[in-house]
Amino acid sequence: MRNTIEYILLKKERNEKITVLTAYDRVFAPVVDAAGIDIILVGDSMANVVLGMKSTIDISFEEMLNHTRAVANSTQNALVVGDMPFCSYQNDPAVAVGYARQFMEVGCQALKYEWFERVSEVIPAVIAEGFPVMGHIGFTPQSEDKLGSSRVQGKDVEAAERLIEQARLLEEWGCFSIVLECVPWKLARLITNKLTIPTIGIGAGQYCSGQVLVIYDMLGLNKEAQFKFLRLFGNLYNNALEAIKKYKTEVVQGTFPTEQESFKITDPDLERFLLKQEQE
Ligand code: KIV
Repeated sequence: MRNTIEYILLKKERNEKITVLTAYDRVFAPVVDAAGIDIILVGDSMANVVLGMKSTIDISFEEMLNHTRAVANSTQNALVVGDMPFCSYQNDPAVAVGYARQFMEVGCQALKYEWFERVSEVIPAVIAEGFPVMGHIGFTPQSEDKLGSSRVQGKDVEAAERLIEQARLLEEWGCFSIVLECVPWKLARLITNKLTIPTIGIGAGQYCSGQVLVIYDMLGLNKEAQFKFLRLFGNLYNNALEAIKKYKTEVVQGTFPTEQESFKITDPDLERFLLKQEQE
């Protein structure tokens, strides 16, 4: 049975850590699900890590929608959160609810929105439709051009006050959780303690209610991911490289495929026909 919003809220109440990972397809999503991760975020980080785009704002609505459907259809337990792409609300906040509905219809249980200057027009309207929302503050990649040169946010009193106020507003509007991305850990701890809803940290230290990482980064598949906050929990790049090299060698040597890995002819007429053809 799927994890519910109530279950996620209860985890914060009980002081139990919430586990979140991104996944984008029916290959990795079922693995994340089988591992018992609480929430799968179909993040728009897919733009960079899967599609090789420069910015998350370049990903289309259809691309995010199709992958959210794939993750929802291939999992049974995790709560699936669809990450709303820039084009679905930041271009024109008036269209946000229609796009949100399309995401909920493909089977996700909640939607994530990054903070931007007109977010107060979007999140309360989406929540009023009955769609659960996860907020996202701190480093918000869709607004990267407006955040200054440092990835870490909330580094002075004014910036910290802004983040505290954003978190308060998100809770007041009815969000069920908030991603804190690249925030000093003491500030993340303060925000977490001020809220009744959980915080999910990425680069925000150990005192958040839960943690999220990008799956290909933490599995060691994405060589470009080199962040202070990232820990590699696997080395799948090397595992994949070894397997692919072995495949290449065996194809070149003719040891793959064997007869056991090939189909046999069962029709005697066809057997005779082929023999005759070979003799001609
Ligand atoms: O798109 C994404 O993967 C995210 C997480 C890093 C929080 O927003």
